[in-house]
Amino acid sequence: MLGCLLRGGCSPLVCLLALLLPLASLQRQSQHGRRGHAVRDRPKLLLVSFDGFRWDYIDRVPTPNFKIVMNEGVMVKQVESAYITKTFPNHYSLVTGLYAETHGIVANEMYDPALNRSFSMETDSMYDPRWWEEAVPLWVTIQKAGGRSGAAMWPGSDVKIHGMFPSQYLQYNASVSFESRVERIIEWFSAPKEEAVDFGVLYWEEPDESGHIHGPQSTYMDGVIVGIDEKLGFLMNELKKAGLYEEVNLIVTSDHGMAQQSADYIIELDEYVSRDLYTWVDKSPVVGILPKEGKFDEVYGKLVDANPNMMVYRKEDIPEHFHYRHNVRIMPILIEAKEGWTIMQNRTEPFMLGNHGYDNTLQSMQPVFVARGPAFRQHYVKTSMRSVDLYPLMCHILSIRPLPNNGSLLNVKDLLSLEPTPPVPSAPPRVNNDSSYAPVVGSVLGVAMVLGFLVVYIRQVTLKQLPSLRHRSREMSQPLLQGDLHL
Ligand SMILES: *[C@@H]1O[C@H](CO)[C@@H](O)[C@H](O)[C@H]1NC(C)=O
Ligand SMILES: *[C@@H]1O[C@H](CO)[C@@H](O)[C@H](O)[C@H]1NC(C)=O
Ligand SMILES: *[C@@H]1O[C@H](CO)[C@@H](O)[C@H](O)[C@H]1NC(C)=O
Ligand SMILES: *[C@@H]1O[C@H](CO)[C@@H](O)[C@H](O)[C@H]1NC(C)=O
Ligand SMILES: [Zn+2]
Repeated sequence: MLGCLLRGGCSPLVCLLALLLPLASLQRQSQHGRRGHAVRDRPKLLLVSFDGFRWDYIDRVPTPNFKIVMNEGVMVKQVESAYITKTFPNHYSLVTGLYAETHGIVANEMYDPALNRSFSMETDSMYDPRWWEEAVPLWVTIQKAGGRSGAAMWPGSDVKIHGMFPSQYLQYNASVSFESRVERIIEWFSAPKEEAVDFGVLYWEEPDESGHIHGPQSTYMDGVIVGIDEKLGFLMNELKKAGLYEEVNLIVTSDHGMAQQSADYIIELDEYVSRDLYTWVDKSPVVGILPKEGKFDEVYGKLVDANPNMMVYRKEDIPEHFHYRHNVRIMPILIEAKEGWTIMQNRTEPFMLGNHGYDNTLQSMQPVFVARGPAFRQHYVKTSMRSVDLYPLMCHILSIRPLPNNGSLLNVKDLLSLEPTPPVPSAPPRVNNDSSYAPVVGSVLGVAMVLGFLVVYIRQVTLKQLPSLRHRSREMSQPLLQGDLHL
């Protein structure tokens, strides 16, 4: 415009149009280019948890679908879950990479003295975001980076955490079949590019439920495990039918294992200390004890040497390697039963033949881990990892900058395919999503384009030669966008 007026060599209207048209087309292109890029190129990942699927279940009956995933991908023999080896703490560790003391979901049943509130996975108390907001789950982080996520009943995924739900999610309802959960997940992954999810989480209650009722040693479990393998087969088949099988990285794991219990191995706390002296916060086999005001010494003194089949810890004496001390939701006294033992107040309480929650270094507490997909090596067996290492691994696969966590990518890098994955532009985590700065980028590009156009225009008029504007604008936009966004 300025050039035109100064030179006075063309009609102002033509000149204005000549300036605005390429500018508009560039803005449109940069937005589409950026969006299209992020959606098309961000790798896809589906994390599946079969609750309570112990590491060795895959070898006790034929599990052909697990074997296919192992052969086409990777398997880790020993995965150390986070302490305590219960469902809610570990599902949150898987998606945050944090030990329970740091992510704040320290048990399935909790009391927070600062909030003066109780949490139970079986009541609506679990929908209070304050329980969850000591950490940020991966689905929130990926959405803040401009990606999308979908959750089918993963613990915590129907809670509004840091102001966000997953882009797509289901309200928890145990009656919804595995197959319908899979159908929804497949829908979300295969939605049109702008809406398709990049990261999915899928949860199923079995074989945990049957393991509790029948005990892991029961032959009844054989059929249950076969059933889970068939469910995995269903999922793989649905991924194939939707054309997603080669594209989606699939991780199948669990929150913990399962130990056999016996009605002969019961500890009754009423034998040692009056229940009037304390509140019983979390259940067997790792029991949180909150002594009544002024009763700590009495309760601890009566319990500490009461029974050789339980360890009684003052909070500050909980072994360092459990990483289970630094949170007000961990009770002043923690009782941990030895493997196979059940702690009750008295024998009238319901007894289960299988349970978990014990020491996370026990083999019986370890979950299964198999994975396949473009990010993973093939036919590779790894000896061990910690479940907190999964988070940095998933962030790496998704090209998301991990938040501070207790895992280590270095520990699990050997699971990844040796071929370097192409760099993927993705926004760093930020409070606002990319729509808030896209116009700024657009404007900067716009101004650059106007200047560029002027230079080109002057050259054009001078040299009587017309270079391609569209081509040029693309060249200009790429380095700017990628330089800004590449991690
Ligand atoms: C905690 O809440 C209960 C009701 O749930 C109330 O009775 C009690 O006084 C509260 N305690 C404190 C210290 O605020
Ligand atoms: C839970 O799912 C079942 C099976 O799909 C359905 O019949 C029931 O209405 C659902 N319950 C709620 C509260 O949505
Ligand atoms: C066991 O505890 C229940 C309360 O939970 C009580 O009603 C019952 O009398 C107790 N039984 C014995 C044998 O102490
Ligand atoms: C776990 O990670 C968090 C976040 O970086 C950190 O604050 C905490 O100290 C770590 N815990 C351990 C045991 O290293
Ligand atoms: Zn569980």
